[in-house]
Amino acid sequence: MLRGRFQQETAPAMQRLSESVSFDWRLFKFDILGSIAHAKALHKAGLLTDEELGQIETGLLDIEKDIVAGTFQFRPELEDVHMNIEAALTERIGPAGAKLHTARSRNDQVALDLRLYLRNECSVIRALLIELQRALVAAGRQHADAVLPGYTHLQRAQPVFLPHHLLAYVEMLERDKERLADARKRINRMPLGSGAIAGSTIPLDRAYVAELLDFPEVTHNSMDAVSDRDFAAEMLFVLAMVGLHLSRLSEDLILFASSEFKFVRISDAYSTGSSLMPQKKNPDVCELTRGKTGRLIGNLVSLLTVLKGIPMTYNRDLQEDKEAVFDSLDQVKIVLEVYSAMVRELKFDFSTMQAAADDPGLLATDLADYLVVRGVPFRQAHEAIGALVAYGQTQQRGLRELSLEEFRRFNHSFEADLYDVFQLRSAMGKRTAIGAPSPKNVAAELEGWDAKLRE
Ligand code: ARG
Repeated sequence: MLRGRFQQETAPAMQRLSESVSFDWRLFKFDILGSIAHAKALHKAGLLTDEELGQIETGLLDIEKDIVAGTFQFRPELEDVHMNIEAALTERIGPAGAKLHTARSRNDQVALDLRLYLRNECSVIRALLIELQRALVAAGRQHADAVLPGYTHLQRAQPVFLPHHLLAYVEMLERDKERLADARKRINRMPLGSGAIAGSTIPLDRAYVAELLDFPEVTHNSMDAVSDRDFAAEMLFVLAMVGLHLSRLSEDLILFASSEFKFVRISDAYSTGSSLMPQKKNPDVCELTRGKTGRLIGNLVSLLTVLKGIPMTYNRDLQEDKEAVFDSLDQVKIVLEVYSAMVRELKFDFSTMQAAADDPGLLATDLADYLVVRGVPFRQAHEAIGALVAYGQTQQRGLRELSLEEFRRFNHSFEADLYDVFQLRSAMGKRTAIGAPSPKNVAAELEGWDAKLRE
């Protein structure tokens, strides 16, 4: 199609290297949408008759139907989705088809298609993120007063409510949604009219095209518009961050589902067995998610690496943007879909979590606070409690089992009411600052998220 200046056919291996239609066919809907808007702009500029515009529109919509039906033959020798659709159009409607590419280059065309594609995917990903948030909030509401140890360094630290732990992930996913909305702003600019690099001597009404395609803005520099892929890199970052958050949650669930913790059971529908060991039930969803996150990060790094050395403006390297983007979207979508369903079926084991949270060591900080309230400087209190813990360990006794007389050996401010500190429920009730897990706060957070996510 483009071989006017060439005397030789493209070498077969070169064709295999060069073609992108095996993956960029996925842009077809947006390519057609963009081409119809472009044809309307050509018509508005007096370059297409009413009849020609009608033929182009019908021809393109027919092609779309055939692609959806699976009856359209993509030809790798035509390189990409853009050339395949244009060639088919001209085959079907004749000369009007050959006018479609007036004042357009594949460089601004592919930039438009990818932006339209990603803008659409933003809504899909957003809906899936909300679904997972809802599943986490629902799990939290089901287990509103389950207490478990919170961990730092994977060592028992302080008691928390299970919903507090789950809502931490709801917060992370909320920021992912914010990042997605922010990336969408920069995706949502209309590049068509930039031509190959420097616009066209046939100026079209770009604002009209933007309006037709529901873009709030057009791009303002033709050189930037054909070579910018930061918007795609941002999308890959957002997807990698979603993966990273799910990977952390996966790590928690893998640990909690182990026999060592036994805090949660993952439903059979989302687990697999071992080909050898009959007793095994493995948390594969979590492991696959953790593994796929490596791939999501890889896709981001891959695109950044492609972009870093590209001189102005369009270079063929840019064709490498699409597979990374498609792959990350595919992976994140399947992971989010399965994850929400898995979370809804998690069975948390109250009594095991409660037993672990009963470890009086978890309230050692509360005991230090007890002394602080009685005038002991915190560092001194910290040291006294630390020494008491060590003393208890030499005796194989927990803090709760030491006598008042023993406590007083380490600090004179201890009174008989010190044992009240070990009341887990009242200890939780004291954590009242914004963001801390008092029962009241956690209940309010659960209700707040529930209402927000219903909207
Ligand atoms: N398949 C190409 C891509 O994905 C489309 C643009 C081709 N432009 C060009 N000048 N060869 O980037």
